[in-house]
Amino acid sequence: MTHNTNPSAAKIWSGRFSAPVAESVKSYTASVGFDHRLAPFDIQASLAHAQMLQESGLISQDDCNNIHQGLEVLSQEIETGKFRWNLEDEDVHLNIERRLTQLVGDAGKRLHTARSRNDQVATDIRLYLRHATDQILTLLQRTRLALLDLAQTHAATIMPGFTHLQVAQPVTFGHHLMAYVEMFGRDAQRLSEGRRRINQLPLGAAALAGTSYPIRRERVAELLGFEGVCQNSLDAVSDRDFAIEFCATAALLMTHISRMSEELILWMSPRYNFIRIGDAFCTGSSIMPQKRNPDVPELARGKTGRVFGHLMGLLTLMKAQPLAYNKDNQEDKEPLFDTVDTLLTTLEIFSEMLRDVQVNADTMRRAALEGFSTATDLADYLVKRGHPFRDAHEMVARAVRHAESLSCDLSELPLEQLRTFSDRIDADVYAVLTLEGSVGSRNSLGGTAPEQVAAAIARVRASLLEQGHWF
Ligand code: ARG
Repeated sequence: MTHNTNPSAAKIWSGRFSAPVAESVKSYTASVGFDHRLAPFDIQASLAHAQMLQESGLISQDDCNNIHQGLEVLSQEIETGKFRWNLEDEDVHLNIERRLTQLVGDAGKRLHTARSRNDQVATDIRLYLRHATDQILTLLQRTRLALLDLAQTHAATIMPGFTHLQVAQPVTFGHHLMAYVEMFGRDAQRLSEGRRRINQLPLGAAALAGTSYPIRRERVAELLGFEGVCQNSLDAVSDRDFAIEFCATAALLMTHISRMSEELILWMSPRYNFIRIGDAFCTGSSIMPQKRNPDVPELARGKTGRVFGHLMGLLTLMKAQPLAYNKDNQEDKEPLFDTVDTLLTTLEIFSEMLRDVQVNADTMRRAALEGFSTATDLADYLVKRGHPFRDAHEMVARAVRHAESLSCDLSELPLEQLRTFSDRIDADVYAVLTLEGSVGSRNSLGGTAPEQVAAAIARVRASLLEQGHWF
């Protein structure tokens, strides 16, 4: 197999130039070092384009067959690592075109009829991002399933619920986990909605103004599985909204991952000791033998920063570009690729790690008992017995102070002592003062009662089944 490795080979577009491009400029402007990952999508788009050209009578059946066969060989070369990417050929598109022409001659040169690298690259990125979106959606649903299973096991496990990181009211651990299932559910919705806008075909816009050849863009869209065709050629080649939108969704998704990471880190610190993450997902310290470090959630929290940065980078990249295509756009790829890679690796590991979380239910329960977490329940009880809420609040504050001085929980105060704060308190108060009574009473839609947690889990499972096509 011969390859074009001649460094002095002329640029495909060099006809107009009288002096060779400086070496420094070649390496400065080349993108093949990173855009070669678009190759499978570039080939996919070329196959569809060639077929449409043939069907429209713009190239012969022979040329079309040659292009198909040549691209087949080229795919193999790329897959097996035999393909030699050449900086001289600037980017993925020109590398592929050059090799195709070596393989099949003039048919390779005819492939570029009625298209430009401007609509080509826009098409490739959309195909790439559509594929990445589907992969991310699959991993996101896997992560949600891991959380659902853990929530189901712990639908009735009691932990302190916090506001201001102070013990507030008891909640169930299942309920807490389901909050993340909701967040990731919205992320999945945003990804699916964004996918519709990614899934529009730019090809046929050519360099910027459309083409004089009688092409059939709808046919290419159909062959590539696009839902529609970009309606304005200038917009088609210069629009990167879909990439920015994807990065915004990614930033929000990572925000959720990062918040969860923060909690996992706190919960597994010996101060909390609420959970244990399996050894496979922890790391040790080189000098402190006792350490088990939560490196995975820490790194995920850290990687959130680069994903935010990429969003800002893309917005800034686009903000001052006049229509239509500018070389600036080449800078869209690395942030986009890194965002996709970060999401894929992070979700992959989280979907597995969340299946390796052991819960120290006793420690959680003790922590819920420590902070007078049922004080609100006592206040609500007093309101139901006819005290105005503000008075009830004051009575309970005094009861808490009393229990604190005895180093016991409200539920441990004998009835006659509780009655010194309000003579409307009866023995049935203990049903609300216990942790189980407290969480069980929050039994309306979206509440923490185990019954509501079970219902929430069932709702999400049913919706996941409906969207089964993501698996
Ligand atoms: N490598 C280029 C990019 O990523 C492809 C499009 C080049 N078009 C051009 N007119 N120079 O944007």
